[in-house]
Amino acid sequence: MEFQEVVRRRRMIREYADTPVDPAVVDRALANAVRAPSAGFSQGWAFLVLDQRPDVERFWEVTTTPGELPDSWLAGMRTAPVVVIPCSSKAAYLGRYAEPDKGWTDEDEARWPVPFWHMDAAMASLLILLTAVDEGLGSCFFGIPPEHEATVRDAFGIPAAFDPVGAITLGHRAPDEAPSGSATTRQRKPQADVVHRGSWG
Ligand SMILES: Cc1cc2nc3c(=O)[nH]c(=O)nc-3n(C[C@H](O)[C@H](O)[C@H](O)COP(=O)(O)O)c2cc1C
Repeated sequence: MEFQEVVRRRRMIREYADTPVDPAVVDRALANAVRAPSAGFSQGWAFLVLDQRPDVERFWEVTTTPGELPDSWLAGMRTAPVVVIPCSSKAAYLGRYAEPDKGWTDEDEARWPVPFWHMDAAMASLLILLTAVDEGLGSCFFGIPPEHEATVRDAFGIPAAFDPVGAITLGHRAPDEAPSGSATTRQRKPQADVVHRGSWG
Protein backbone atom coordinates (compact mmCIF):
# COMPACT_ATOMS: atom_id res chain seq x y z
CA MET A 1 0.00 0.00 0.00
CA GLU A 2 1.22 3.49 -0.77
CA PHE A 3 2.49 5.35 2.31
CA GLN A 4 -0.06 8.20 2.13
CA GLU A 5 -2.80 5.63 1.90
CA VAL A 6 -1.50 3.83 5.01
CA VAL A 7 -1.49 7.09 6.96
CA ARG A 8 -4.91 8.12 5.68
CA ARG A 9 -6.53 4.79 6.47
CA ARG A 10 -5.08 4.35 9.95
CA ARG A 11 -7.63 4.56 12.70
CA MET A 12 -8.19 2.71 15.92
CA ILE A 13 -10.24 -0.46 15.47
CA ARG A 14 -12.24 -1.69 18.47
CA GLU A 15 -14.17 -4.64 16.98
CA TYR A 16 -12.43 -7.72 15.62
CA ALA A 17 -13.30 -10.93 13.85
CA ASP A 18 -11.83 -13.89 15.73
CA THR A 19 -10.04 -15.01 12.54
CA PRO A 20 -6.40 -15.85 13.32
CA VAL A 21 -3.67 -13.46 12.26
CA ASP A 22 -0.77 -14.79 10.22
CA PRO A 23 2.19 -14.94 12.65
CA ALA A 24 4.43 -13.63 9.84
CA VAL A 25 2.42 -10.40 9.87
CA VAL A 26 2.90 -9.99 13.62
CA ASP A 27 6.62 -10.61 13.09
CA ARG A 28 6.69 -7.97 10.39
CA ALA A 29 4.98 -5.46 12.69
CA LEU A 30 7.59 -6.17 15.37
CA ALA A 31 10.45 -6.00 12.85
CA ASN A 32 9.16 -2.57 11.84
CA ALA A 33 8.72 -1.51 15.48
CA VAL A 34 12.40 -1.99 16.17
CA ARG A 35 13.23 0.25 13.19
CA ALA A 36 11.81 3.16 15.18
CA PRO A 37 14.19 5.94 16.19
CA SER A 38 15.40 5.94 19.79
CA ALA A 39 17.29 8.51 21.83
CA GLY A 40 20.99 7.67 21.81
CA PHE A 41 19.95 4.52 19.97
CA SER A 42 19.12 3.25 23.45
CA GLN A 43 16.39 0.93 22.19
CA GLY A 44 15.13 0.61 25.73
CA TRP A 45 11.94 -0.97 24.62
CA ALA A 46 10.48 -4.48 24.80
CA PHE A 47 7.32 -6.00 23.39
CA LEU A 48 5.29 -8.63 25.18
CA VAL A 49 3.39 -10.52 22.47
CA LEU A 50 0.26 -12.44 23.45
CA ASP A 51 -0.86 -14.50 20.47
CA GLN A 52 -2.26 -17.59 22.17
CA ARG A 53 -5.94 -17.49 23.11
CA PRO A 54 -5.43 -18.38 26.81
CA ASP A 55 -2.84 -15.60 27.18
CA VAL A 56 -5.09 -13.06 25.48
CA GLU A 57 -7.99 -14.12 27.72
CA ARG A 58 -5.72 -13.80 30.75
CA PHE A 59 -4.78 -10.28 29.65
CA TRP A 60 -8.42 -9.22 29.61
CA GLU A 61 -9.08 -10.96 32.92
CA VAL A 62 -6.31 -9.06 34.67
CA THR A 63 -7.11 -5.69 33.11
CA THR A 64 -10.78 -5.67 33.98
CA THR A 65 -12.49 -5.61 37.34
CA PRO A 66 -13.85 -9.06 38.33
CA GLY A 67 -17.61 -9.32 37.99
CA GLU A 68 -17.78 -6.37 35.64
CA LEU A 69 -20.08 -7.13 32.72
CA PRO A 70 -18.28 -6.82 29.42
CA ASP A 71 -19.25 -3.49 27.93
CA SER A 72 -19.34 -3.04 24.19
CA TRP A 73 -15.73 -1.76 24.11
CA LEU A 74 -14.45 -4.83 25.89
CA ALA A 75 -16.69 -7.20 23.93
CA GLY A 76 -15.30 -5.85 20.66
CA MET A 77 -11.68 -5.70 21.77
CA ARG A 78 -11.35 -9.07 23.43
CA THR A 79 -11.91 -11.03 20.22
CA ALA A 80 -8.67 -9.65 18.79
CA PRO A 81 -6.37 -12.65 18.46
CA VAL A 82 -3.19 -10.73 19.30
CA VAL A 83 -2.31 -8.24 22.02
CA VAL A 84 1.12 -6.59 22.04
CA ILE A 85 2.26 -4.76 25.17
CA PRO A 86 5.00 -2.27 24.34
CA CYS A 87 7.19 -1.53 27.36
CA SER A 88 9.84 1.09 28.06
CA SER A 89 12.86 0.98 30.33
CA LYS A 90 13.87 4.25 31.97
CA ALA A 91 16.89 2.45 33.42
CA ALA A 92 18.11 1.59 29.92
CA TYR A 93 18.09 5.30 28.97
CA LEU A 94 19.74 6.50 32.18
CA GLY A 95 22.41 3.85 31.69
CA ARG A 96 22.93 4.61 27.99
CA TYR A 97 23.29 8.35 28.62
CA ALA A 98 25.83 7.69 31.39
CA GLU A 99 28.14 6.25 28.71
CA PRO A 100 31.19 8.37 27.73
CA ASP A 101 29.72 9.78 24.47
CA LYS A 102 26.76 11.20 26.38
CA GLY A 103 28.36 11.76 29.78
CA TRP A 104 25.33 12.12 32.05
CA THR A 105 27.08 10.01 34.64
CA ASP A 106 24.91 11.29 37.51
CA GLU A 107 21.94 9.60 35.80
CA ASP A 108 19.88 12.58 36.93
CA GLU A 109 16.38 12.26 35.54
CA ALA A 110 15.97 16.06 35.63
CA ARG A 111 18.30 16.27 32.61
CA TRP A 112 15.66 14.75 30.37
CA PRO A 113 13.46 17.28 28.54
CA VAL A 114 10.65 14.71 28.40
CA PRO A 115 10.67 10.97 29.15
CA PHE A 116 12.37 9.77 25.96
CA TRP A 117 11.91 6.14 27.09
CA HIS A 118 8.15 6.48 26.71
CA MET A 119 8.48 8.51 23.50
CA ASP A 120 10.53 5.82 21.82
CA ALA A 121 8.13 3.06 22.81
CA ALA A 122 5.33 5.23 21.40
CA MET A 123 7.18 5.70 18.11
CA ALA A 124 7.68 1.95 17.87
CA SER A 125 3.99 1.47 18.66
CA LEU A 126 3.00 3.72 15.78
CA LEU A 127 5.02 1.56 13.41
CA ILE A 128 3.03 -1.45 14.62
CA LEU A 129 -0.23 0.41 13.95
CA LEU A 130 0.92 1.45 10.48
CA THR A 131 2.11 -2.05 9.62
CA ALA A 132 -1.31 -3.37 10.57
CA VAL A 133 -2.93 -1.01 8.06
CA ASP A 134 -0.41 -1.99 5.40
CA GLU A 135 -1.30 -5.66 6.00
CA GLY A 136 -5.04 -5.02 5.85
CA LEU A 137 -5.48 -5.58 9.60
CA GLY A 138 -7.03 -3.48 12.32
CA SER A 139 -5.28 -2.36 15.48
CA CYS A 140 -5.87 -0.17 18.50
CA PHE A 141 -3.47 1.38 21.00
CA PHE A 142 -5.03 1.76 24.43
CA GLY A 143 -4.00 2.41 27.99
CA ILE A 144 -3.70 -0.15 30.76
CA PRO A 145 -5.54 1.29 33.78
CA PRO A 146 -2.99 2.01 36.55
CA GLU A 147 -4.94 -0.11 39.04
CA HIS A 148 -4.39 -3.16 36.80
CA GLU A 149 -0.71 -2.64 36.03
CA ALA A 150 0.56 -4.76 38.91
CA THR A 151 -1.65 -7.70 37.94
CA VAL A 152 -0.50 -7.47 34.32
CA ARG A 153 3.12 -7.53 35.50
CA ASP A 154 2.45 -10.54 37.72
CA ALA A 155 0.47 -12.45 35.12
CA PHE A 156 3.13 -12.15 32.44
CA GLY A 157 6.35 -11.71 34.41
CA ILE A 158 7.14 -8.19 33.20
CA PRO A 159 10.37 -7.26 34.99
CA ALA A 160 10.50 -4.21 37.29
CA ALA A 161 12.95 -2.47 34.93
CA PHE A 162 10.25 -2.25 32.25
CA ASP A 163 6.98 -0.33 32.29
CA PRO A 164 4.09 -1.11 29.96
CA VAL A 165 3.22 2.06 28.06
CA GLY A 166 -0.11 0.64 26.89
CA ALA A 167 -1.34 -2.24 24.80
CA ILE A 168 -2.13 -2.84 21.13
CA THR A 169 -4.81 -5.17 19.81
CA LEU A 170 -4.18 -6.64 16.37
CA GLY A 171 -6.59 -8.58 14.22
CA HIS A 172 -8.94 -8.68 11.29
CA ARG A 173 -11.72 -6.15 11.58
CA ALA A 174 -15.18 -7.47 12.38
CA PRO A 175 -17.18 -7.51 9.10
CA ASP A 176 -19.63 -4.93 10.46
CA GLU A 177 -16.99 -2.90 12.31
CA ALA A 178 -17.94 0.77 12.43
CA PRO A 179 -15.89 3.81 13.48
CA SER A 180 -15.86 4.11 17.27
CA GLY A 181 -14.27 6.04 20.10
CA SER A 182 -13.56 9.74 20.48
CA ALA A 183 -12.97 10.17 16.75
CA THR A 184 -16.70 9.72 16.18
CA THR A 185 -17.59 12.66 18.42
CA ARG A 186 -14.65 14.98 17.87
CA GLN A 187 -13.38 16.61 14.72
CA ARG A 188 -9.77 16.39 13.59
CA LYS A 189 -8.28 19.83 14.30
CA PRO A 190 -7.58 21.82 11.16
CA GLN A 191 -3.89 21.87 10.32
CA ALA A 192 -3.90 25.68 10.43
CA ASP A 193 -4.96 25.57 14.11
CA VAL A 194 -2.03 23.46 15.20
CA VAL A 195 0.80 24.54 12.90
CA HIS A 196 2.57 27.79 13.81
CA ARG A 197 4.93 29.13 11.19
CA GLY A 198 7.71 31.49 12.19
CA SER A 199 6.10 32.36 15.52
CA TRP A 200 3.22 31.09 17.57
CA GLY A 201 0.92 34.04 16.85
C1 LIG B 1 -1.69 7.37 24.02
C2 LIG B 1 -3.04 6.91 23.52
C3 LIG B 1 -3.91 6.30 24.39
C4 LIG B 1 -5.15 5.85 23.94
N1 LIG B 1 -5.97 5.18 24.81
C5 LIG B 1 -7.11 4.63 24.35
C6 LIG B 1 -7.90 3.81 25.21
O1 LIG B 1 -7.57 3.59 26.37
N2 LIG B 1 -9.02 3.26 24.68
C7 LIG B 1 -9.39 3.46 23.38
O2 LIG B 1 -10.41 2.92 22.96
N3 LIG B 1 -8.66 4.24 22.54
C8 LIG B 1 -7.53 4.82 23.00
N4 LIG B 1 -6.74 5.58 22.16
C9 LIG B 1 -7.21 5.84 20.78
C10 LIG B 1 -7.72 7.27 20.60
O3 LIG B 1 -8.99 7.39 21.15
C11 LIG B 1 -7.74 7.58 19.10
O4 LIG B 1 -6.44 7.51 18.60
C12 LIG B 1 -8.34 8.94 18.79
O5 LIG B 1 -9.69 9.01 19.17
C13 LIG B 1 -8.25 9.29 17.30
O6 LIG B 1 -8.90 8.29 16.54
P1 LIG B 1 -8.11 7.45 15.41
O7 LIG B 1 -6.81 6.97 16.02
O8 LIG B 1 -9.05 6.32 15.07
O9 LIG B 1 -7.86 8.39 14.28
C14 LIG B 1 -5.52 6.05 22.59
C15 LIG B 1 -4.63 6.65 21.72
C16 LIG B 1 -3.39 7.06 22.17
C17 LIG B 1 -2.43 7.70 21.18
